[in-house]
Amino acid sequence: MLAPGLPTDVVGHIVAQARARNAQEAITGLLVFDGLRFCQHIEGPRRNVLRLLNRLDADPRHTEMKVLHEGVIEARRYERFELGLAHIEEGEDVEDLRRLDGAEALAQFIALRPRWDI
Ligand SMILES: Cc1cc2nc3c(=O)[nH]c(=O)nc-3n(C[C@H](O)[C@H](O)[C@H](O)COP(=O)(O)O)c2cc1C
Repeated sequence: MLAPGLPTDVVGHIVAQARARNAQEAITGLLVFDGLRFCQHIEGPRRNVLRLLNRLDADPRHTEMKVLHEGVIEARRYERFELGLAHIEEGEDVEDLRRLDGAEALAQFIALRPRWDI
């Protein structure tokens, strides 16, 4: 969730910085933002992704971070994106994802992607 009191335009700033950093770290991914909640799919070398998770955990610009799924992949899904951003309508999508776990969460994220229009 976006930290209380922060304007939503902080998200553009976060993404611009994250893209530059992700390029250095060989990280790609997709960030979904519904005006209140975030959901992010991150891929890259394991060490770099774990380091990013630590930085995310310490970032006061968001709250209630939860890892829904982690695993090993054969090929990237977001090869073209240092960090894609999908601004979506505030609704149930991100809230629903949060209730899922593991493979179910991943499958739902991927199933929703065409609706998010990126
Ligand atoms: C929702 C959200 C998504 C973020 N995604 C990334 C990301 O993909 N890559 C990244 O390097 N930083 C990302 N950040 C920023 C990190 O939390 C952190 O501020 C940044 O990596 C710089 O960390 P440092 O100041 O400790 O070097 C994100 C922050 C938020 C709130």
